[in-house]
Amino acid sequence: MLKPGAIGVFDSGYGGLTILSEIQKVMPEYDYYYLGDNSRAPYGPRSFEVVYEFTLQAVEALFGMGCNLVILACNTASAKALRTIQQKNLPLIDPEKRVLGVIRPTVEIVGNITKSRHVGVVGTVGTIQSESYPIEISKLYPDIQVTGEACPMWVPLVENGECDSKGARYFVKDSLFKLFIKDPQIDTLILGCTHYPLLMNAIRSYMPNGTNLISQGEYVARSLRDYLNRHTDMDAACTKGGATRYFTTESPEKFAEAAKIFMNKEIGKVEKIELGNCY
Ligand code: DGL
Repeated sequence: MLKPGAIGVFDSGYGGLTILSEIQKVMPEYDYYYLGDNSRAPYGPRSFEVVYEFTLQAVEALFGMGCNLVILACNTASAKALRTIQQKNLPLIDPEKRVLGVIRPTVEIVGNITKSRHVGVVGTVGTIQSESYPIEISKLYPDIQVTGEACPMWVPLVENGECDSKGARYFVKDSLFKLFIKDPQIDTLILGCTHYPLLMNAIRSYMPNGTNLISQGEYVARSLRDYLNRHTDMDAACTKGGATRYFTTESPEKFAEAAKIFMNKEIGKVEKIELGNCY
């Protein structure tokens, strides 16, 4: 039997905070440990092997702190590491513990939203190259055509607090232009990176009118609620004290400052953690 612990939420950096805040809205009574591997972000341009290795280290660290359930609040990690961790590592680490990602809950709702059956996905180079979205969408909705566009500049802009600057608007406009040129019939755009909700103002202003925008947080939150309703053993293994602790592999002061923008509030104390060797 699992000893109850907080729910772990992991991202390469700050992006997962957009998911955590939506989860907290739906499930405020649970305890959370948020871990940002800020010293090694961005993960987007990194190889499959490196993203897998870093993500596994983070998952093991959260398990070590008592978490039984870890959410990879990062599309790059979900695309490149989730399956291997679920299939290869979890049975050896502890078959009762669970790691879930953000791609599946997002994919599940897309079929109910698009009318043209043409969907666009923006994400990191890693997420787009992995083809995870087209592969997963085709399993549930084979009639939907998916077109992706990698946006390598978007995460660095967000990590540097440049969410609504002239530079951010230039790169958002450029990437969206390239995407909609490839498929002008797209009527639904998936923000396939947890950093991108911070660029929402710029994204909305360069999207063709009438395009639906899918921001993952609320769907991941609903899906987690549903998962815990169906898996009562895991629910009992998640503590409910309404508290959140924040961990970063970089400077706690810098994290606390930047997190204000993502969470729209002061987050209080941030703790430093070491994960493997820094690259
Ligand atoms: N937040 C991560 C995601 O959803 C990407 C950030 C990164 O490149 O590290 O893909």
